[in-house]
Amino acid sequence: MDLRNSIQKRRSIRTYQSKPIPQEVLEEIIDAARFAPTARAVEPWEFVIVRKPERLTEIAHHAVNGKFIAEAAACIAVFCKDTKYYLEDGCAAVENMLLAATSLGVGTCWVAGDKKDYCSDISALLLAPHECKLVALISCGYPQSPKEFRSIKRRAVADILHWEEFERSTP
Ligand SMILES: Cc1cc2nc3c(=O)[nH]c(=O)nc-3n(C[C@H](O)[C@H](O)[C@H](O)COP(=O)(O)O)c2cc1C
Repeated sequence: MDLRNSIQKRRSIRTYQSKPIPQEVLEEIIDAARFAPTARAVEPWEFVIVRKPERLTEIAHHAVNGKFIAEAAACIAVFCKDTKYYLEDGCAAVENMLLAATSLGVGTCWVAGDKKDYCSDISALLLAPHECKLVALISCGYPQSPKEFRSIKRRAVADILHWEEFERSTP
């Protein structure tokens, strides 16, 4: 899948086949993360791939809006060292991973980490160093059908684009 297709067809996918995701596919998703832009070139990110069912169940237990993680083939916990731009850096890495996963046929859903009360529970479970903050959880699995990757209606370019200033809709 080319980049434009991956961007348009990425969807949050929350139900998965029981099929495991090969290690090299998971590593390719992490490989995409490390090319994300990073303020001051710090690269503060660290990633934990969880595949053991009992751990996935425990993460799902904490993540109030991520119960489906229990049924995922894997969950990528995205941490960043507590730098000034940790959140921006971490989110840029997450988006790279979502797009890479889509291009590899892997369905994902971004589950909130930062700002959630359960961050400390997940950090403790995964033995995260004290200076690392949980930015996001990414559930991963092969979708029930490839048709789940699909373009959807979004706000039109004409609605969101302003030229030079908010009042101008033409160049
Ligand atoms: C910062 C952030 C946090 C999110 N947290 C959750 C979450 O906790 N649980 C969930 O099911 N989806 C979560 N999502 C996914 C959004 O619900 C989803 O992106 C949105 O509904 C649009 O659908 P789409 O991803 O298929 O385009 C989150 C997305 C973002 C960007």
